[in-house]
Amino acid sequence: MNKDVKINNDVGADYSSGVKIEKVFGGYFSDQKNIDDFIRIGIEPILEKFKSKNEIIIADFGGGAGNLAEGVKSFLNQQFEIISMVVVDANPDYLKEAQKKNLDTVEANLLEYSNLEGYDLIIQRAVLHYNESPKKQKQLLRNIKKSLNKEGYFVSQLSTGSKENCAMRNEIVNQAGLLPHGGRRTHLWISPEEYTDLLSQVGFENNKIAGFAKGGSWTIKKMWDRFNKNTESEVFSKNDRDEISRYNERKNAFFSNGIKIINKYLDTSDKETLMIEQSGEDFTISYQYPIFVSSN
Ligand SMILES: C[S@@+](CC[C@H](N)C(=O)[O-])C[C@H]1O[C@@H](n2cnc3c(N)ncnc32)[C@H](O)[C@@H]1O
Repeated sequence: MNKDVKINNDVGADYSSGVKIEKVFGGYFSDQKNIDDFIRIGIEPILEKFKSKNEIIIADFGGGAGNLAEGVKSFLNQQFEIISMVVVDANPDYLKEAQKKNLDTVEANLLEYSNLEGYDLIIQRAVLHYNESPKKQKQLLRNIKKSLNKEGYFVSQLSTGSKENCAMRNEIVNQAGLLPHGGRRTHLWISPEEYTDLLSQVGFENNKIAGFAKGGSWTIKKMWDRFNKNTESEVFSKNDRDEISRYNERKNAFFSNGIKIINKYLDTSDKETLMIEQSGEDFTISYQYPIFVSSN
């Protein structure tokens, strides 16, 4: 890892737990249909803004393993003579995957301005919530705005839902005990209204939802598995009863506290507002994926 890059908590959580981003949530991020939707909803409608150009310079800020970047690049290759596309991310494991797709990469923390400039288009999918405070989210958006050309566009897909859905999801995943190496997963989902407000505050214009990509869902158990699958197989392979029982305690506490959090929200909101459905002893928690288009 580049020692100069400070990694934030959530990027660090994926990195140290060895999360394979192309596989999480049923392979959402590598699914071609979801990539095609992003292009159809977010990119096709703004193509004419670039029609006077031969060359178009693009970056995917928080592009991870480069699945979306690869799809957008190959689509735009059919429209323009020269395309330059770079994937910027702080997770070196993901960038290695992006390089295998023949994409240029830059290892950087999006919260620190990295002198990346001159982009016609910056794309982003499912990144903002890794940055755990409104202040950091604003900083990240401010840096994106600075990296864009004056006439540039920012197309972003946000994991979101009602205010109540976001608050409940934040409480569940930010419980201490989720991460195998300890600590709290600090993490922040925000509603579409809050996001639009942040975009306007940093100076983006004409911010609008261009449409919706396929939404997603997880259960409390699936969220646990995302970060603990590797640890679980290690612990069980050692056959140490004390260690197994400590692991199970941690897992059960995460689950039962998760249920308590959901029940607390059910005291004041209905299932539809919270976007949840009971599934056995667990709950399926859904979220939406609107695609926003903003101009600089
Ligand atoms: C859920 S993944 C999505 C990856 C990719 N955008 C896609 O749609 O396939 C979120 C990505 O954002 C990156 N990320 C989040 N916050 C970041 C930050 N402050 N600096 C650099 N990368 C960040 C993570 O490392 C991760 O690769």
